[in-house]
Amino acid sequence: MYSRTIRPLLFRIDPETLHRWAIGRARWFALNPGMRPLLGGLAAPTDDRLRQTLWGLTFEHPVGLAAGFDKNAEAIATWPEIGFAFAEVGTITAHPQSGNPRPRLFRLPSDEAVINRYGFNNQGAAAVAERLATDPPSPAEIPVGINLGKSKVTPLEEAATDYLTSFQKLYPFGDYFAINVSSPNTPGLRQLQSQDNLDRIMTLLQKHNRDNKPLLIKIAPDLDWSQLDDVLEFARNKLVDGIIATNTTLGREGLKTAAIAQEAGGLSGPPVRSKSTEIVRYIYQQTQGKLPIIGVGGIDSTETAWEKIAAGASLIQLYTGLVYKGPGLPSQIVKGLLAKLEATGFATIAEAVGCDAT
Ligand code: FNR
Repeated sequence: MYSRTIRPLLFRIDPETLHRWAIGRARWFALNPGMRPLLGGLAAPTDDRLRQTLWGLTFEHPVGLAAGFDKNAEAIATWPEIGFAFAEVGTITAHPQSGNPRPRLFRLPSDEAVINRYGFNNQGAAAVAERLATDPPSPAEIPVGINLGKSKVTPLEEAATDYLTSFQKLYPFGDYFAINVSSPNTPGLRQLQSQDNLDRIMTLLQKHNRDNKPLLIKIAPDLDWSQLDDVLEFARNKLVDGIIATNTTLGREGLKTAAIAQEAGGLSGPPVRSKSTEIVRYIYQQTQGKLPIIGVGGIDSTETAWEKIAAGASLIQLYTGLVYKGPGLPSQIVKGLLAKLEATGFATIAEAVGCDAT
């Protein structure tokens, strides 16, 4: 229904305008709880077999909203209503910033993919903290991750203190924090994936992490294996509680939409899927499944969700799938995962994590 009738109409609208409209509607539902029945039962079913506890947080099922959709944490209360068990807001930077000039978001319909070069447009840590302090609390509590990035005006050498500024302002509101060192749209950011740079940032943040909240790092799919080994070696030192794999790719292999593929920015959706799954599997193998992984990249169905879980992801996230498959996707995946458990004979989703990683 969505793909055949609603999507063609929505895709006549400029992608960024549509994104802003969607956030506006989601915020309206967040502020008007009495109206949420209008969402028409998009919430996911609950089932003990899908529940997991990670870092002391309860996740009703493994499907979450990926960073970049709700950049300014405007609609947290709406995300469980459309079936997400957790939501990662941001990327948020210490300084407010407007991002790159428009157009900066492109659809590649034949590939069901997106290219974006937003460049961390966001209202800044202070304004987002103010909103989170004053918004009404949401009835269905879900874990909220806060994704932090480096401000464009801050030189790379001062990245650690820039992350710390945001971390301190937003600390009370995050159940976990994602340290984004992998967006392709902030010059030099991906260099922060080196051991030295990670060490500077994570040591400083952990020093101020008074409640021992989980700190995850979000990595790029474009790391070569030795760079990934460096990240994993760093992760062994206990400063990292988990890895989010992966962000968007700079690669353009195998795309059908040649013209738009020339646009600069990060590519997401099915074209990044196998690369990010491969990385999830490698991390799971190298860490013997001891470091929780959030798998993200090209998930748009039960099968592609299962692939990430079987490769070693305890939790999964999606963004581009929502654009192409619509807001019914999260709960469709959740129902599909239950059917998958029955078909494969695993008693719980936690048991299935990494079943295809050895
Ligand atoms: C993103 N993504 C992203 N990631 C992040 O850490 N901070 C961000 O601000 C953004 N912004 C953003 C904007 C847009 C338009 C897209 C499509 C993506 C990356 C996202 O969270 C995810 O890692 C990748 O998109 C891969 O997942 P999907 O989209 O294939 O499910």
